[in-house]
Amino acid sequence: MTELKNDLLLRALKRQPVPRTPLWIMRQAGRYLPEYRATRAEAGDFMSLCRNPELACEVTLQPLRRYKLDAAILFSDILTVPDALGLGLYFETGEGPKFERPVKTRADIEALPDIDVTDGLSYVFDAVRTIRRELDGRVPLIGFAGSPWTVGTYMVEGGSSREFPTILGLAREEPATLDAMLKKVASITTDYLNAQIEAGAQAVQIFDTWGSALEADDYRRFSLASMQQIVDGLIRERDGRRIPVILFTKGAGPRLADMVATGCDALGVDWTTSLADARKYTDDKVALQGNLDPATLKGSPEVIRQGVADTLASYGKGPGHVFNLGHGITPDIDPEHLGVLVDAVHEMSPAYHADDS
Ligand code: CP3
Repeated sequence: MTELKNDLLLRALKRQPVPRTPLWIMRQAGRYLPEYRATRAEAGDFMSLCRNPELACEVTLQPLRRYKLDAAILFSDILTVPDALGLGLYFETGEGPKFERPVKTRADIEALPDIDVTDGLSYVFDAVRTIRRELDGRVPLIGFAGSPWTVGTYMVEGGSSREFPTILGLAREEPATLDAMLKKVASITTDYLNAQIEAGAQAVQIFDTWGSALEADDYRRFSLASMQQIVDGLIRERDGRRIPVILFTKGAGPRLADMVATGCDALGVDWTTSLADARKYTDDKVALQGNLDPATLKGSPEVIRQGVADTLASYGKGPGHVFNLGHGITPDIDPEHLGVLVDAVHEMSPAYHADDS
């Protein structure tokens, strides 16, 4: 195995001391970059890009050529798992993801097949191996999957939703049926993440974008329990190194305290909770990742620099912070503005790690 030249991310995720705050950006490979749009056009469409390991590798590396980032994230999507279950994923321009055969009833759920991830999803593991080879140890590679609840909202609603009427109806009327579906998705997701780790992913993140649509008890039952099932089944060490697990429930707020108990290494925090509050909820037991409002990147360089300064100050001194946005970067952002953010983190963060003896 190639030596990892920059292990700041892995150290920070373990809350070990670092000379500056490491950073990566959710959706760092995406439509705000003209070179991404060109490669997607070459692939034809988004899913063809995901299914082509060489091109998926190319777009994974694009943001690293522009910016001094401390991690790469696999280019893929959380909906590859239900696609492999036969739901028929497609993207309609401007409308987001859709499924040809959504799972609406108990019979649909019972009919979900048992799949072997090495059959239907091998293009993802091929992409991981290709990216690791091309990265050549420069920075670690993050693998990812969606939380069963979040993936479940797309499976049941058939696409993006704001109100989640069908799956919330299932939670109310047939909770045991929903439990069974989430258990199944969690089991496949565990295999899926473990196969990414075996192919070379050095940390993994679980995206729970819609967990906060559930009230507290239902959040524990339908979102947190299925993430717990995954954490319990993950490979946690490989080649003598810990494989950190990051959980990200958007809008988690005080639920961050419950999330610590899963045994994860780190929690993603969105911008509606300050890092200072998140540190109190989690009692410094895990690392925290975040949390600048992505809309800040629409501002002037001064506004962006102030946002970085405030985020670093909110976390304060000491290890265990990974700088990121509070959610993914949006397609309307000027790439130069992200450069201002990255440079500001490099310039300002060492002060938070200086030995104050
Ligand atoms: O962070 C990264 O750079 C890795 C790549 C990544 C993508 N999707 C690529 C993508 C990751 C981590 C995801 C996760 C994902 N996918 C989530 C959780 C995200 C979060 O931040 O909470 C969700 C809910 C999805 C499902 C999904 N995929 C949606 C809703 C969409 C449409 C979004 C849109 O803005 O149109 C996608 C498509 C998608 N996934 C794109 C990218 C770069 C845009 C596709 C394109 O090129 O047109």
